[in-house]
Amino acid sequence: MTATVHPRVLAYLGRALSLELTAVQQYMTQASLAESWGDREAADRFRHETVEEMQHAERIVARMISLGVAPGTSQLKAVTTAPTLEGLLERNTDLEDQLIRHYAEASRFCQQIQDDGNSSFFEALLAEEQSHGREVASWLADQQGPMPVALERAPF
Ligand SMILES: [Fe+2]
Ligand SMILES: [Fe+2]
Repeated sequence: MTATVHPRVLAYLGRALSLELTAVQQYMTQASLAESWGDREAADRFRHETVEEMQHAERIVARMISLGVAPGTSQLKAVTTAPTLEGLLERNTDLEDQLIRHYAEASRFCQQIQDDGNSSFFEALLAEEQSHGREVASWLADQQGPMPVALERAPF
């Protein structure tokens, strides 16, 4: 007998695929944008992230296939761009946050219904997106420079 999968788990996988492919599209676009600004280092970092997100998408597709479902059409969100690297990184913080929230909710739901296999699957992706989120945040902090130091006394 084949184990049945809760339909909500399939919905979480479908939405995860949409978010990961959205991230692929976003980072790929930003790599070209950074290249056009002559910022080779940022372009390379965005390309590296594109590949990581694509590997996540691939894992989700493989998971869906192993559960006996084919991925449906994914609705991608529009790419969000900005005129500066700092602006791009702010958008990316939002996107990584969405992924983190999604995987946290999906793994929590799987735990509730005692679907250990899918719970571990989502938890592994959650840990990777949390680490992405930290990387983006520290890259963003580097762009923003040191926090302003509070004045010890009023200037007048
Ligand atoms: Fe990802
Ligand atoms: Fe990510």
